[in-house]
Amino acid sequence: MTLALCPGSFDPVTNGHLDIIERAASHFEHVIVAIIGNPSKEPLFTLEERKTFLLDSLFEYDNVEIDSFNGLLVKYAKARGVNVIVKGLRAVSDFDYEIQMAQMNHRLTGVDTFFLPTRNEYSYLSASLVREIASFGGEIEGVVPGHVELALKKRFPL
Ligand code: PNS
Repeated sequence: MTLALCPGSFDPVTNGHLDIIERAASHFEHVIVAIIGNPSKEPLFTLEERKTFLLDSLFEYDNVEIDSFNGLLVKYAKARGVNVIVKGLRAVSDFDYEIQMAQMNHRLTGVDTFFLPTRNEYSYLSASLVREIASFGGEIEGVVPGHVELALKKRFPL
C-alpha cells in the first residue's frame, strides 16, 4: 500500500492545507495527516482542537487518517511505514526551507518528499496570516472551513 504523510502545525487548518490533503488522497491509497504536537511556537489552538478541525473537515475521506507526533518527523514516518511525505509549495519563498527539510529528511532515513503546487487562489494563504487577520477582527470567510471560522471568531470576539 502506498502511504503518504502530510505533516504540519495546522494552527488552524486552512483551505490551502485541505486542497493539498484532498489532492494527495486522490493519488495515494492512504494519507496520514500528522499534526506536530510540540511546534516551535506556542500554538493558538490546542492539539485536540487542531485535530477536531481536521476531523470535521475530512470525515468524508475514507483513506485519510488524522494523527499527531512529537519530535522528528522522519522517526514518526519510519514507525508508520510511510512511503512519501507530501508538502504543498506556494511561492518561491517556500522553496528554500522546504527543499532543505526534504533533503535532510531523505538523508536521515531515505524517505522522499513530493511537492504539490498550491492552487493559485491559495498561493498567498498561510495559517499565521489567518491567525493575525482574525485576531484584528478581519474577514476570514472562504480561506478556512466554516467551523474554523467560527472557532476563530469565538477566540477573538469583536
Ligand atoms: O505547518 P508547518 O509549521 O510548516 O509544519 C512544519 C513541520 C511540522 C512539518 C516541520 O517543522 C517538521 O517536520 N517538524 C518536526 C521536527 C523535524 O523533523 N525537524 C527536522 C526537519 S529536517
